[in-house]
Amino acid sequence: MTGKPDPRIRNIVILTGAGVSAESGVPTFRGPDGLWEGHRVEDVALPEAFRRNPLLVQRFYDERRAALSRVEPNAAHLALARLDAEWSGALLLVTQNVDDLHERAGSKRLLHMHGELKRALCTGCGAASPWSADLSGAPACPRCAAAALRPDIVWFGEMPYHMDIIEAAIDACDLFVSIGTSGAVYPAAGFVDHARSCGARTLELNLDRSAGTPMFGEVRHGPAGALVPEFVAEMLG
Ligand code: APR
Repeated sequence: MTGKPDPRIRNIVILTGAGVSAESGVPTFRGPDGLWEGHRVEDVALPEAFRRNPLLVQRFYDERRAALSRVEPNAAHLALARLDAEWSGALLLVTQNVDDLHERAGSKRLLHMHGELKRALCTGCGAASPWSADLSGAPACPRCAAAALRPDIVWFGEMPYHMDIIEAAIDACDLFVSIGTSGAVYPAAGFVDHARSCGARTLELNLDRSAGTPMFGEVRHGPAGALVPEFVAEMLG
């Protein structure tokens, strides 16, 4: 990446993590003010935690869902939505985030690989539905009427969503960009390796050095709210 659009780049895959939403006021997971600092992962983000204490898990995600109404997309989300609207080649935005800030900014070619706070999954019939209320009052599933809803979030040990589509997009991409993720959680942390093995250029935009940094062809450090609009302006020329 040189500051000018590269005509050889047609197919782009972008991976985002909690860092892209940090400037909107959504806490990241790891680090001094991270979400996991105040909660034990094993109490809230494991299927066993939900089986053991569903109310605790419901309340944790209810708070996070309610907090979405107090945050707005930032310059990074808006720039990615502009890239989506104006990029004529293939583009796939894969987010590990369970917030709705990419879609509220206007991104359309978007997949949530770790689920969404604003969806609920019925542990009885398996139906997933849009959901914006609390889950802690044991509401009924709209399809089977069982009071067996959980947040539609991919917990540790569960299979992320859309992996076939994501792997196929990485196979075909010319540029893979990772934004605001620590590279600590697989399979997302392995996407850069996959992209490199397919001959794609790789770029990391992150506040600071991440576990994945050594695997990227190019690395830029700084806040996503500054780096992402700059990157999008370069891509669109
Ligand atoms: N701009 C860019 N990067 C930032 C910013 C910012 N303003 N603020 C923080 N970061 C970076 C941090 O330096 C860190 O490398 O974002 C990264 C956030 O890392 P994590 O908190 O580990 O979040 P993420 O990588 O998305 O976590 C992956 O782990 O707990 C699971 O399922 C959860 O999807 C999540 C997954």
